[in-house]
Amino acid sequence: MLVPKPVQIMKSQFVFPRHTKADLPVIARGDGLWLIDTDGNKYLDACGGAAVSCLGHGDRAVLDAVKAQLDEIAYAHTSFFTSEPAERLAEMLVDRAPAGIARVYFVSGGSEAMEASIKLARQYFLETGEPRRHHIIARWQSYHGNTLGALSASGNRWRRSQFEPLLVSAMHHVDPCHYWRWHDDGEDGRAYGERAAASLEDKILELGPGSVAAFIAEPVVGATMGAVPPVPGYFSRIREICDRHGVLLILDEVMCGMGRTGTMFASEAEGIAPDIVTIAKGLGAGIQPIGAMLCSGSIYDAVEQGSGFFQHGHTYLGHPVACAAGVAVLNAIEERGLLQNVRTMGAKLQAALVARFGQHPHVGDIRGRGLFFGIELVADRNSKTPFDPGRKVHAEIKKAAMAEGLMCYPMGGTVDGKAGDHILLAPPFIIDEAHIGEIVDRLGRALDKTLPQTATA
Ligand SMILES: Cc1ncc(COP(=O)(O)O)c(C=O)c1O
Repeated sequence: MLVPKPVQIMKSQFVFPRHTKADLPVIARGDGLWLIDTDGNKYLDACGGAAVSCLGHGDRAVLDAVKAQLDEIAYAHTSFFTSEPAERLAEMLVDRAPAGIARVYFVSGGSEAMEASIKLARQYFLETGEPRRHHIIARWQSYHGNTLGALSASGNRWRRSQFEPLLVSAMHHVDPCHYWRWHDDGEDGRAYGERAAASLEDKILELGPGSVAAFIAEPVVGATMGAVPPVPGYFSRIREICDRHGVLLILDEVMCGMGRTGTMFASEAEGIAPDIVTIAKGLGAGIQPIGAMLCSGSIYDAVEQGSGFFQHGHTYLGHPVACAAGVAVLNAIEERGLLQNVRTMGAKLQAALVARFGQHPHVGDIRGRGLFFGIELVADRNSKTPFDPGRKVHAEIKKAAMAEGLMCYPMGGTVDGKAGDHILLAPPFIIDEAHIGEIVDRLGRALDKTLPQTATA
């Protein structure tokens, strides 16, 4: 019998690496929550890459749906055709979307979805005879993408700084909503939420009523602040302020949407509906790149009855294969009861994290919602003083976790874009209790190695 020769996978010299000095393993394959490199090392995926792989790796139903679509039609430009998977996915999303959301614009990722939302907000006011409205307000310490429009909206100073001269001057920033870090002594959650929301109204008044087009926020802030949910009441107040001043509310659910926080749309938990909402990441589960911008019927109608044309577009809008993946992902989430699993396993993971790290001298806060958690690291628990950013604690933890066979998503700059470290956890929705034990054990060993409990800043 002919034995196939093992394929030697070499690292290419041509791929532009994200981190120039990184010596990354070469991925070979995935199986459920595990990723396996070409040396046979296994890594437990506790973050879905960047909160992407919500069904784990190698989900048969989604792979089959993608393959079947490839056999029918892979690509047809949206100026010539619509497609069954795009129409089907749009209908499924609208059926599950917050009240008033009626139309879907499919793109290839989160930044593209955010660009589309910003442009649609601007065009809406041209269509409705309010051309003065051009300012966009977002929040400090948010992340909305790396293309220049989305980066301009992003409030993370580190990600912005070297591109600052290129960023859009019509973008402005107000306070984030992060009670644990920013509340005053004796201030309760409600009062803090009122104060954080009031910073939006102050900014609208400062820029001039009638000149602000939209406010952008992540319902649960992901990559840059580490899974921070809002305090109760914050978003209702934001909605009121937007309504009072005729400002559109754009919710960026690129990371926290599509079931990640236990509801299909994260805003469901806040009891409010946006005018525009963006999704990506979990929508394609990493099997296909796809994002979407969803807007209200009244915004769509204004464009349709006005110029009749949204002046935007990309080559891969509404890609049939990506949309077929999206349909299969939504079916998988619903038919397998995965939203319930997100909530049940989320509660168990939270309990396990608190039990293991709640008293750790360098863990300041453990927060999150659904299967979306942030562990904020501090040099000193009482004063919440972050580590010296030069030490790059987050990078050390990522390395130590990989050595333990664990993928988590640590990030620096948690407090102000420079100081602060957190670890983001966003495991696949198919997680079970055994996985939770493994995640906490492996993370515990990585943390102990990086921040021995006697260590100081
Ligand atoms: C909240 C949020 N918005 C937008 C983006 C940008 O998405 P993408 O990287 O797919 O362009 C991200 C990516 O992490 C994100 O977390």
